[in-house]
Parts: sequence; C-alpha cells; structure tokens
Amino acid sequence: MEDLTPRKQDLDPIEIASRDEIEALQFHRMKRSLKHAYENSPFYRNRFIEADVHPEDLKTLKDIAKFPFTYKQDLRDTYPFGMFAVPRNKLVRVHGSSGTTGKPTVVGYTANDIDVWANLIARSIRAAGGRPGDMLHNAYGYGLFTGGLGAHYGAERLGCTVVPISGGQTERQVTLITDFQPQIIMVTPSYMLSILDEFRRQGLDPRQSSLKVGIFGAEPWTNAMRQEIEEAFDMHAVDIYGLSEIMGPGVAQECVETKDGLHIWEDHFYPEIIDPVTGEVLPDGQMGELVFTTLTKEGLPMVRYRTRDLTRLLPGTARSMRRIEKITGRSDDMIILRGVNVFPTQIEEQILKCKGLAPHFQIELAREGRMDNMTVHVECALDQVDADARAKSAKELVHHIKAIVGVSTRINVTDPNAIARSEGKAKRVVDNRPKG
Ligand code: DLL
Repeated sequence: MEDLTPRKQDLDPIEIASRDEIEALQFHRMKRSLKHAYENSPFYRNRFIEADVHPEDLKTLKDIAKFPFTYKQDLRDTYPFGMFAVPRNKLVRVHGSSGTTGKPTVVGYTANDIDVWANLIARSIRAAGGRPGDMLHNAYGYGLFTGGLGAHYGAERLGCTVVPISGGQTERQVTLITDFQPQIIMVTPSYMLSILDEFRRQGLDPRQSSLKVGIFGAEPWTNAMRQEIEEAFDMHAVDIYGLSEIMGPGVAQECVETKDGLHIWEDHFYPEIIDPVTGEVLPDGQMGELVFTTLTKEGLPMVRYRTRDLTRLLPGTARSMRRIEKITGRSDDMIILRGVNVFPTQIEEQILKCKGLAPHFQIELAREGRMDNMTVHVECALDQVDADARAKSAKELVHHIKAIVGVSTRINVTDPNAIARSEGKAKRVVDNRPKG
C-alpha cells in the first residue's frame, strides 16, 4: 500500500499545535458557546437555571463538569425546532435521524455551521490520505442522514471530484468504480462488504481496483474487519466518527499514517468520558461513555451531550489532538446475556478468525422459559459450503466466543447471501424476546 501521509505544511496549524494552545482556544470558545446557548436558547437557559449554573461559572475547561447533561430525549421533547439557538430562518439546512423508536430528531445548521463542517470533513479526508484532485466515490446515503451531504461538501472543499452515488444499486457502484477509477471511497464498512461481494460476483479482482483509501464509519467495526477489507482491496481502511447531534461525520478521524484510533477535532468539540451510571467524569485512559460539548456550533449548540458511545480518551500521536479508541459499541446495543455484557463488535472479531465463515452476520436474541439465548446467524465462505465444513466452522466459532467473550451461543451457518445486506448501517441485533 502506498504511503499517503499528508505533508506537514498541508495540515491546519492547530492540528499540530501545542496542548496549551489547543486548550486556550477551547476555553475561549467554550465560554462563548455556553453564553450563546444561555442567551439564545430558552431550553438551555432553563436547564442552566435549574442546575444553578451560569456561563460565568466556567473558570477552567474542567468546570464544564458543573453543567447539566443533554440527552437525545431532549431533542425528542422539543421536536422539531425547540432547541435551536438561532431563529429558524437563519438555518440553511436541517438533517434528522430516522427515529426507529418514537419520534425522529431534527438538527439544524447555519451557513457558518455548514462551512465549519465542510472544513472538518476536508481535514478528515486529508488525514485519511486524500488529496486535492483525487476522485472520491461517496456511497454514504444522501438525504436526512448526515453521511452523504456531509462527506460531499467536505470532499468538494478539499478539492476532490465527488461521485455522489449515495447508497444502494450495488451493481452500479462497482461499474462506476471500475469506469471512473476513484482513489477514495466513503461508505459504511458493512456496505463495503456488499460492494466486495459484487466485485467478486462480476469476476473482478478487487485488488486491481483503483481504490487507495476507504473512509469507513457510521457504525462500529473492528480492527479485524480493517484487516479483512485492506487485504481484499489492497487499500488503506480508516475510521471516521460522528453523530448528527454534534454535527455529523467528521467529529473524529483516524490518520492513515498511524491507524491507532481517531483524533477528535478538539478545536470544535470538547470531549469527556463519564461513568454512564453515575455521570462522574473519568480520567483519560478509562473506558466509559463519550460526552461532547460543541465549541463553535451556532444553530444547535450542544452542552455535554450524552452520545451513548463507549470508548476511552488517549493522548495525541499523529496530531496533538486527543484520540478515541475505536468505538466498542453503544450502551443501547450492549447485550446482557446471563450476566455477561456482549457487544456485536466482539462477535465480529471472533467470526473473522474463522476461515470458513464470511463476515456477514446477525445476532438473534430469544427467550426460552426464563432463559435468554443468543443465536449468531453467519454466512459460510463461498468455498466452505458443504455440511461438514459448516459444522466445523460452527464449532470453531462457538469455541472462540466462549473462550474470548465468555458466553455460550448457538451458531447457524447459513448459505452465502442469506443474511440481509445493508446499504447503510447494518442491523446487527434482532431482539425477539418478549417486551417488558
Ligand atoms: O452516523 C454520522 C456519520 C456518517 C459518521 C458517516 C461517520 C460516517 P448518526 O446517524 O447520528 O450519524 O449516528 C451516530 O453512529 O453515535 C455511533 O453510535 C455510530 N457511529 C458513527 N460513526 C461511528 C464509528 C452518523 N466510526 C452514531 N464507529 C454514533 C462506531 C459510529 N460507531
């Protein structure tokens, strides 16, 4: 794989500034942002008054811990426009979540917010190894989802030629990659696997494709999956993180030269890790829930937003800004099986160890009597379809999951293509347990 490390002179100076400079900027911006929220959003004004805090109480960055948390539920309660800190006619765009449970949530951006976002995505693509002039195949979904348009504006900002294909039409994705010869692809890792299958179905060697970098995010994926995709395509696979409430993609990005977790763009977002149960702030290095305070957002400033994502904060490496470790999963997706916490990413890692299996899987939860049980439905590899091979793979996977994750599971090794393919975020868990 080619060395795509960006040149130092092409970085934004703040990416490699000293910690003192970064923290001074953060403090200045945090103060301004809290004041903006307090003065212009009745929601935040009330929250601060209830908690008996005032923006003036922020004397150091750590004082942010005095301020109350914000939750997804707050966005639902104030649906659609109740949390904004600017008049509706100052918003140039809204995005939203699909809202599989209950009402959707709406987020909004001023012209300046869109500008900052484009710059941060441009910075992210550059960190991933992209350059002005590269062609970028954007298979994140366009629409209310932030992935498609977020990536699009940033890729244009960097100076790339964007192919705005969005998700779906897998056959056409492969045709366009073959015909246009892009260097970069942006897509969810699970949909990249569908594109990989389609390459093979069409008799094409993915290693011969023009792709040099894949920028994968919007869902959890593991280092084992990175290796799988990098080997299959002979390309770099790097992680991009973000969430609509904070901005969209481009809140944190992994650097191509280190691939050691994602640098948070700390000049715009202030991270904390907290104990998800007590809400107490944890020191860097400890695992917990990621919480963000936005430092420059105008339309929808967020103060201590509870992401539900579990990870830890690590010191900077390729950049001065701190990193998050690859996200283990969301606290909402954590399965508690007979007292053991299980994340779909742990199952993914074990599946990728088994040569007889393909990395397409879904976890089904069911209840028999009083016992919960878990079945992993996973496809066999194309050259391992006979009954003996499947039985052997199932046994191997049961063993790995028991030994590493610590739970007993049933394994159903299916035919190739039996598991529903995602065109965006994969649905990893189907919960068939009775509600309540
Ligand atoms: O998924 C934004 C995005 C688009 C990020 C494209 C990256 C690429 P939401 O739909 O609001 O926004 O979902 C946000 O997705 O809280 C995480 O749980 C999960 N997520 C996003 N990126 C990653 C990642 C977009 N790299 C939620 N690793 C977040 C693990 C991720 N989980």
